[in-house]
Amino acid sequence: MNSVASTDSTPNADDFNAPGNWRLAALDALRECNPAAKAEAVCALQALAQAGMSCGAPNWEPKRELDAPAGLPGRPDRPELVDPRQLRRRSMSTPQGRAVLLHALAHIEFNAINLALDAVWRFAGMPETFYADWLTVAAEEAYHFSLLNARLADYGHAYGDFPAHNGLWEMCERTRDDVLARMALVPRVLEARGLDVAPPIRARLKQAGDDESAAVLDVILRDEVGHVRIGNRWFRHLCDVRGLDPHAAWLALAEQYRAPRMRGPFNFEARRSAGFDDTELETLAAQDASGDAADEGSRTGDGSEK
Ligand SMILES: [Fe+2]
Ligand SMILES: [Fe+2]
Repeated sequence: MNSVASTDSTPNADDFNAPGNWRLAALDALRECNPAAKAEAVCALQALAQAGMSCGAPNWEPKRELDAPAGLPGRPDRPELVDPRQLRRRSMSTPQGRAVLLHALAHIEFNAINLALDAVWRFAGMPETFYADWLTVAAEEAYHFSLLNARLADYGHAYGDFPAHNGLWEMCERTRDDVLARMALVPRVLEARGLDVAPPIRARLKQAGDDESAAVLDVILRDEVGHVRIGNRWFRHLCDVRGLDPHAAWLALAEQYRAPRMRGPFNFEARRSAGFDDTELETLAAQDASGDAADEGSRTGDGSEK
């Protein structure tokens, strides 16, 4: 692959005639096990693609179907992946508790790099801007991961020091055959959940006196609004192409793919700026309220919390 940065003059189309296309390069980055090397590969690829697109030399090969290799995604031997029920919350008042939290967030960002890369390579037949969007997301997730990893280092820890769960990648696997389901379930559910939980986590870090980690959460929340907006845009585009009503399609996909039940409180302001419309936000609030009623019924029914 020719280096764009090494030339004195403006890059031209020949600079982007890489032997493999950028979706293949995204797949290579996805297979990379070392988190720092993965993050570096993503950022280099994103810079290359941005320069290539801006001088009219895209190299996505949208029509080309790529085979899925075994062993996705590349990940380091540690963290150990365990059942989510084995992961206990720790108090934020201790440095160890905050390190565990920062590690959990770093793990989410590591998975988020993989999820975004998977969208780039896996789904043929999309517009070129789809691939560019998700590669940009992957680069921002790599940045988030690096910020959290640096905070972990300040606490004397590194990514891999604590166990983690594999729920995010499992949703990626479940939706691997349908880009509409992927857009419906990953950015609009999993990443959108981040919009709800980031402010209270930030507040707890701030309360514990960790202003630097709180500032990292500010960066993450700002960027995640953009990621969810990208997901919403492509979800609606695909609904349009398939002649589907987005609201009805969403309800059907949530049921078909067993979307996790969303519980409030919701960050309606961030969700609105990420492109959810009033109907979607009202549906979310109504589902939460009816779930609460069902929970209440189950508690009063047998005297135990389900
Ligand atoms: Fe992120
Ligand atoms: Fe994200």
